[in-house]
Amino acid sequence: MKTPSAVPLMRAPRPEGSREQADPCTLVILGGAGDLTKRKLMPAIYYLAEQKLLPDNFTLLGVARDPSDDDSYRKQMRTAMENSDEIHRIDEAVWQWLCQRMFYANGDFGTPDAYRAIGARLADIEAPTVEKDRNRLFYLAIPPSVFETTIRHLCESGLAKRTDSYESRPWMRVVIEKPFGRSLDTARQLNRLVLSQFGEHQVYRIDHYLGKETVQNILVFRFANSIFEPLWNRHHISHVQITAAEGVGVEGRGKYYEESGVLRDMFQNHLLQLLTLAAMEPPSSFTADAVRDEKVKVLHSLRPLTQGGEPTGVLRAQYADGALDGKAVVAYRSEADVSPSSNTPTYAAMRILIDNWRWKGVPFFLRSGKRMAKRVSEIVVQFRSPPLLLFGQHAVEDMAPSVLVMRVQPNEGISLRFQVKTPGAMHELTPGLEITPVDMDFTYADAFGNQSHPAYETLLLDCMIGDPTLFTRSDEVEMAWSIIDPLLDYWEKHPVESLPQYAGGSWGPAEADRLLAQDNARWR
Ligand code: BG6
Repeated sequence: MKTPSAVPLMRAPRPEGSREQADPCTLVILGGAGDLTKRKLMPAIYYLAEQKLLPDNFTLLGVARDPSDDDSYRKQMRTAMENSDEIHRIDEAVWQWLCQRMFYANGDFGTPDAYRAIGARLADIEAPTVEKDRNRLFYLAIPPSVFETTIRHLCESGLAKRTDSYESRPWMRVVIEKPFGRSLDTARQLNRLVLSQFGEHQVYRIDHYLGKETVQNILVFRFANSIFEPLWNRHHISHVQITAAEGVGVEGRGKYYEESGVLRDMFQNHLLQLLTLAAMEPPSSFTADAVRDEKVKVLHSLRPLTQGGEPTGVLRAQYADGALDGKAVVAYRSEADVSPSSNTPTYAAMRILIDNWRWKGVPFFLRSGKRMAKRVSEIVVQFRSPPLLLFGQHAVEDMAPSVLVMRVQPNEGISLRFQVKTPGAMHELTPGLEITPVDMDFTYADAFGNQSHPAYETLLLDCMIGDPTLFTRSDEVEMAWSIIDPLLDYWEKHPVESLPQYAGGSWGPAEADRLLAQDNARWR
C-alpha cells in the first residue's frame, strides 16, 4: 500500500460556552497522600480551580495514615504537582486559592478512630461555610482490599448517609475507583454492600477512559452526524479493531499487576467500554440511564468467549526481554514484585461477536498489552470492499479498504482513509488509472489548540455536578465481569507451564495475527 497523504479538514469552530461550575461541597479524599491523588486527582483539582469551575465555598480534606498537618500536606501536594506530567505551569494565585481550602486528617481506615478524626476535622472546616448541611463527595482512592471496610465505617460513623433521590439536598456521593471487584462474585458482593448503604444515584464507579475527550466524542461523532450512522452496521462494516497498547511495563506496580493481569486491568473496564460505545444503539436521550441502558444491551448481546467451557478466539501472552526506543527492557518475570515463574498475562487479544441485528457476523477484535511498540489507543472501523472491481485490481484484497480511525490517544482525532486516483499514474490493466489511499485527518490539537481536559478533571467535575453518565452502573459492571469471568475461571483451573511470549517493544505475539486471518483481516 502506498503511503497515504494527509488531506486536512476544515478548521473546526472553537466550542462556545463554559462548563457548569461544581456545587458547593467538601471533597474528602480517602487515600489523600497516595499515588492516584498525587498523579491524577490533585492536577485535576488544580485545573478545575484554574478554570473557576470550583465554587468559593469548596473545601478539600485529604485523609491518609501518616501523622501530618495541613501545612505539610499542602507542601506535599505542591511537590507532587511540580513533579506531575499533567501540569505545565502552576499559577501562584490559583495554588494559594486552593491551599486555603485544603486540609488534612490522619487515620487508619480500618479503625473507627479514623472516622472520628475525619468527623472532627469536617466539623471544623465546614463550620465557616454558609450552608447548614454540606454536600459531601467521598473519593475512595484506596486499595480495593479496603473498599468494603471503609464504606461500612463511613456509614456507621454517620459521615456518609443514604439519600432518597438524585434531588435530595445536601447530597452525599461516593466515588469508587477501579477495579470494582476482581470477579463477577466479588463485584456482586461489593455492589450489594454499596447499595445496602447508598442509593445507586449516589455511587460513581469510575473508569477514567470514559472521561477522555475522545472517548466521549465517539457518541457525538456517531449521533450528531447523520452521514456515518446509516453505514454503521453489518451491511457496510467488515470488522472493527479496538487497540489499547502501552509502551510502559508494570512501572513498579508488580504487586498489583500480579493479582490483576491484563484482563482485569484493561479488558473488563476500558476495552469493553470502548466496545459498547462503538456498538451501542442511539439512546433515547443523552441522560445517564438512557446511555447506560444501551451500553448494557450491547454487553447482553456479546457471544460468550468460551464454548463448551473452553476459550474461543482469545489469546494471552506475556512480555519477554526486548528493546523500546533503542533501550533494552526487561521481561515481565524480571520486574520488581513479580514472580520469576509468573504466568500473569500482560497482553490479550480477542475476537468478539455481537449477536444483534446491527452487528451479526461483524467481528470486533480487541487487543491490549503492556510493553508494546508504542502507546496507542484507537478504534478502527474497516468498511466492506466495493462489490465490483472496476479499476484493474487483480483481487478485492489488492484494494485498500476504506477505514475510519478514531484515535483515543495520542494525537487525538479522527481520520478517514479512502481511495483516490493517483495523478497521472498508469496501471497495466487500466491505463491511466492507479489508485492510492489517502487520509482525511482531523486532530483535536489543530482544531481546538491545547484545550483538551484530563480525564479526571471531567470526571471529578461530573461527580460534583451530579452527572453520572460517564460512570458505570451496577448492572453494567456485573455484565462486564460476566463476559471476562469464564476466561479467568478457565485459566485458573487449567494452569500452563508458561504463556506465549512477545518481545518487549514489539506488537505482541504472532498468534494475534492468526486471530484475524480467518476473517481476512490484519491488525492496523
Ligand atoms: C489503568 C490501568 O486503569 O489504565 C493501567 O490500571 C494502565 O495499568 C492505565 O496503564 C492506562 O491508562 P491511560 O489513560 O494511560 O491509557
